[in-house]
Amino acid sequence: MGIRLRILIGTALLLLGTSLTAAQDTPVPLRELAEKNGIYIGAAVYTPHFGDQNYLKTLGREFNMLTPENEAKPCEIQRQLGKFDFTKFDKLVDFAEANNMKIHGHTLVWHQCVPPWLTNAKFDRDEAIKQLRAHIYTEVGRYKGRVAIWDVVNEAFNDAGGLRETPWKKLIGDDYIELAFQFAHEADPDALLFYNDYSIEETNPKSDEVYAMLQDFIARGIPINGVGFQSHFSVGTVNPRFIAENIQRIGELGLQVQFTEVDVRYGGETTPKILERQASDYAKLMDTCLSSEYCTAFITWGVGDKYTWLRNANLGFFENFTVAPLLFDDDYQPKPAYFSVHDKLEEYASKRG
Ligand code: XIL
Repeated sequence: MGIRLRILIGTALLLLGTSLTAAQDTPVPLRELAEKNGIYIGAAVYTPHFGDQNYLKTLGREFNMLTPENEAKPCEIQRQLGKFDFTKFDKLVDFAEANNMKIHGHTLVWHQCVPPWLTNAKFDRDEAIKQLRAHIYTEVGRYKGRVAIWDVVNEAFNDAGGLRETPWKKLIGDDYIELAFQFAHEADPDALLFYNDYSIEETNPKSDEVYAMLQDFIARGIPINGVGFQSHFSVGTVNPRFIAENIQRIGELGLQVQFTEVDVRYGGETTPKILERQASDYAKLMDTCLSSEYCTAFITWGVGDKYTWLRNANLGFFENFTVAPLLFDDDYQPKPAYFSVHDKLEEYASKRG
């Protein structure tokens, strides 16, 4: 029985004067259901919100995987050349361990959040490789055995095709990507290494390029274990068939797929109808993950709507969208999207027996 139906029946029984036990009253946390399905359910987490008890309570109760929203990015970790600051990421790692959550590390190489020393670097190729190695060895090495998964490189491809002109590419050349994977593997041979990007969820020209890179890496023995689909969607644009096809071809290469930054935004007013459409998109995404043996995690980009990155005024394009893209509302009440994800997890868990 779906959780919404159960809640409805529960409320009816209460009205009849019959009391329900607490267990029937509260939805089984997503993380328990995810575990039954052999996947992780995660959230991006940002330490400035740690003073908010509702945030922390919801996070610990519902999720069993955590992605640092910003704390592990290059400009946070090594703002000054040779000076590493792990204070904030340590806080997240401690929280994750205390709450029995796995960590999806994000990210070692990205063209945004670039420290000034790298933006202005005059390194020759050898020096640049040395600095890339030092950054990755120091960060991955510090969390060896504690961070299970790393987004080694984030967003290396242009939307219109070809590799993006990033600081490391300019200094090193196209092979900066494979070097980053090699260094991460050397620093922690047991960590799972991911390539992460947006608009590569479906089979399309951009994901074809990523796929060609994966084939090439595998053929040449470059260490890689998976692909992260960021999955920043707008209501009504989720095409499960093409996402499933893409997961399948990546899986057949021997790699995993994770939905790493899921949110589903919409324009206009928040109405029950739009929240149902949002819920239906979330259900499609969760269904696509659960129906493939290769999909191992479903991570939303935030815990609840209150702190979604889409409310950041500098995002231009996204400003036209009502920014309530997540599973919990501003008061940490579960939204229709929460219940649709919950129902999917229950449905598959009971199928698995
Ligand atoms: C975003 C964070 O959510 C913001 O807080 C920050 O200001 C900018 O970065 N794709 C990614 C993430 O891979 O790292 C981005 O995170 C969102 C888009």
